[in-house]
Amino acid sequence: MIEVRELSKHYGERLAINALNFSVKKGEVVGFLGPNGAGKSTTMKIITGYMAPSSGSVTVAGFDVFEDPIEVKRRIGYLPETPPVYHDMYVGDYLRFVANLKGCDRTRLTGLVNSALEKTGLQDVRGRLIGNLSKGFKQRVGLAQALVSDPEILILDEPTVGLDPKQVAEMRQLIRTLKGQHTIVLSTHILPEVQASCDKVIIINSGKIVAENSLEGLSKQMSSGGGHSISVRVRRNQEVIVRGLSSVPGVRATTNMGNFIEVQTDGDETTVERVAGYVVQQGAGLLELRVQALALEDIFIKLTSTETAH
Ligand SMILES: Nc1ncnc2c1ncn2[C@@H]1O[C@H](COP(=O)(O)OP(=O)(O)O)[C@@H](O)[C@H]1O
Ligand SMILES: [Mg+2]
Repeated sequence: MIEVRELSKHYGERLAINALNFSVKKGEVVGFLGPNGAGKSTTMKIITGYMAPSSGSVTVAGFDVFEDPIEVKRRIGYLPETPPVYHDMYVGDYLRFVANLKGCDRTRLTGLVNSALEKTGLQDVRGRLIGNLSKGFKQRVGLAQALVSDPEILILDEPTVGLDPKQVAEMRQLIRTLKGQHTIVLSTHILPEVQASCDKVIIINSGKIVAENSLEGLSKQMSSGGGHSISVRVRRNQEVIVRGLSSVPGVRATTNMGNFIEVQTDGDETTVERVAGYVVQQGAGLLELRVQALALEDIFIKLTSTETAH
């Protein structure tokens, strides 16, 4: 659906993004994750046709962003870093204005506006001035303007930035409800955002892609060779099990953590099986056994701390 090839952008001397390559399939929800200054907004501005790259290409549904900008913009709804909302307009009027601007069929305007209001839960404030709304609602109006033409693709630049925790939760819920109806690329510098909404994550640091994978795949990729940790919770004889497990083949170390036992292993699934088998065989009353994949946070720090941002 979106193909990005060798995309670079210089701002004067500064190379903001450096030969990015990635693709987004139809229906995917992709998280574009990276620290501030990584190049997320720059990439999104180019994909949406709001800025020209220095080199490289982007196609959207087969159309080149710079050769067929109209075809591309028709398919994309974009929520920029700063929502382009007019404070002196009423919510409903503003959405109608945007739909008009996007060239939507005049006979469909009312239906499109109603549907965008409904999807973003703004029906009750359609007659209010945008300037008088809370930050969370202004952000929803920003999302509604991205949605109003019912585009195939939504590009959302840090959709929860500056919102309070309740508004963040609402925005995430909203994004989840849009899943399946649109292909979505959202950028964020916050990890839980990606965990909450995305099928795939692209991690960008200092203008370069440092990882592109599913959350599960990423976690596997990062922990291969490094082993796994398993948490085990038993009802009885915890001390005995801690000692006994340390001699199970494939187990590197065991620690009694009080509420549970932490078992460091070689990462092999056979080892997990042996650990489970041992606990059951000892009749310790196995309550829980969980393989801890490397947390996304650890991965993120590992991948983005190698180069310092400028
Ligand atoms: N208009 C601009 N002029 C000069 N430098 C810019 C401009 N916009 C962004 N940059 C620089 O490009 C880099 C990437 O910025 P940006 O794409 O906004 O990152 P992100 O959205 O990931 O925070 C940063 O180093 C930033 O300072
Ligand atoms: Mg940004």
